[in-house]
Amino acid sequence: MCGIIGYAGAKQAAPILLKGLETLEYRGYDSAGMAVMSDGVINIQKCRGRLAALAEKTDHGQSMQGSVGIGHTRWATHGEPSDKNSHPHFSQNEQFAVVHNGIIENYQELKERLERYGYTFQSETDTEVIAHLVEYCDCGDLIRTVSKVLQRIEGSYALGVLSTREPECLVAVRKDSPLVVCRDDEAGYIASDIPALLPYSRDMYLMEDNEIVALTPGKINFYNIDARPIEKEIYHVDWDVSAAEKGGYEHFMLKEIYEQPQALQSTIQSRIRGDRIQFDGIDYTSSWVEQLTGVHIIACGSAYHAGLVGRYMIETTLQRPVNVEIASEFRYRNPIVDERQLVIAVSQSGETADTLAALREAKRRGARTLAIVNVVGSSLAREAHDVIYTWAGPEISVATTKGYTTQLLALELVAVYLGQQSGRLSQSAADALIEAICAVPELAQSALVDIAPIQQMAARHFNAKDVFYIGRGIDYASSQEASLKLKEISYIHSEGIAAGELKHGTISLIEDGSLVIGLLTQPKLREKVISNLAEVKTRGATVIAVTSMEDAKLNALADEVILIPETNPLLIPVLSVIPLQLFAYYISVYNGRDVDKPRNLAKSVTVE
Ligand code: F6R
Repeated sequence: MCGIIGYAGAKQAAPILLKGLETLEYRGYDSAGMAVMSDGVINIQKCRGRLAALAEKTDHGQSMQGSVGIGHTRWATHGEPSDKNSHPHFSQNEQFAVVHNGIIENYQELKERLERYGYTFQSETDTEVIAHLVEYCDCGDLIRTVSKVLQRIEGSYALGVLSTREPECLVAVRKDSPLVVCRDDEAGYIASDIPALLPYSRDMYLMEDNEIVALTPGKINFYNIDARPIEKEIYHVDWDVSAAEKGGYEHFMLKEIYEQPQALQSTIQSRIRGDRIQFDGIDYTSSWVEQLTGVHIIACGSAYHAGLVGRYMIETTLQRPVNVEIASEFRYRNPIVDERQLVIAVSQSGETADTLAALREAKRRGARTLAIVNVVGSSLAREAHDVIYTWAGPEISVATTKGYTTQLLALELVAVYLGQQSGRLSQSAADALIEAICAVPELAQSALVDIAPIQQMAARHFNAKDVFYIGRGIDYASSQEASLKLKEISYIHSEGIAAGELKHGTISLIEDGSLVIGLLTQPKLREKVISNLAEVKTRGATVIAVTSMEDAKLNALADEVILIPETNPLLIPVLSVIPLQLFAYYISVYNGRDVDKPRNLAKSVTVE
């Protein structure tokens, strides 16, 4: 996720900005930059790569004179990581400089309008639109200018803005993207999160949506969206720095579990246009989609599990066979793939060696390829014919959580898109799916409101020896993901099994004390799974049921029930996995494991 830092005071700004950016490094980034006001002129220095490159370019900040400035670490969303796409961005007349964290949803429309007014763009970013818009809206007063800009932009943002007309002033604002402000005796500071500001103060102002702050040396003033002054309360921070980096959470995994509602919102935002799904840069013609004979989904690990769910989604809407395959198998199997098939590679990192090799194999055989990835500009994103970013933000914990659920939602968007383009999905069915998709972030939020029962459940089962997750249909796919989550971070043996397969072998493992977690989210398969749970219960297993529909029969059978919100059966895997991520997380914690860095695992598997 991008990081913002800003300073308005009496000291040299650039070294302070560099130090702040270093503290924000853990958020993940691919480029960095700074803008410093120097004798009424804005000096911008920026480059792709690590902060060390920016430090070297600016002689550790010494070559940028000036005491008011903004800095940025960029995690690419629009446009690949490059010098020109790095922030800050200049307005056309170079009188304004802007840093931005978030996504401007209506940037395309604004860009076209600004181009008609004669503005030219140097980058592929959504942020540059804001810089030009600030110039376009300029009324001579930076607060009122920013307030006008806010009336025109849609999406999520934290912004820092400099203006040569007010060289002592730094203005910042936020909506759906974090921004904190503090001061010490001589200066004011802004940052994307608290750790970057802890060296200066423990008393913070936490900006709320559409609140504007103006920093001048020795003064901080707050305004509402209409540029009217407001008062803000101080929030005193009493955590240590390492907890603060994790936003107060004990581990990145827990933080990332909690980030899911926001990440899911980012995945869908700007892709739902009226009653249709659209992806920038992707234009499959109806006749091309209509002639497809099938789809392959290739991926590894959790991304493969997302693909297993994706099969149900795409087969429902496109009504063509979908083959889901582990990339390391696909690449060596002599797969039957040709130009009448679409191959979708799913990957959080976009660098997984097997997935990349499988994609190359599919291309070699003539298929059109689509990458669903999180990391912008990654190898898969560059090599596939088309790319859809999940926009989950950087994932630091090795075990994926928000990376996985955003893949599920992206696959559902693709499913609706293909169904609409092929003409095989009726508008009423598309409307129902789109409505359900839009509701997912809020439902995910509701699944996170009261997690104490899950934590207590983990406390009761943390020393289990074997845990079996069972389900049918789409719940079988979710069972495999839930099982992987548990085993990889707790080191407890676990399997995800198709409930109907139990009696073909695995049931011989069930004995007193075995833990069986049954997923029952699909109305038409519910009774079948209840019967399978009864079979393990009579053999001594403890049964936990995960369902959105409680009833007396299930309550009598299950030892414990996890209730999840109801939604369309195709989307329920996004919600059913959340309590199971938490269950795995707490079991790992109670076993004293290294939750964020489990043994033998790497975040990005770039070797075969
Ligand atoms: C499990 C996990 C892995 C990854 C797999 C693929 O929690 O994170 O199974 O899903 O290594 O990684 P990406 O998605 O980066 O291709």
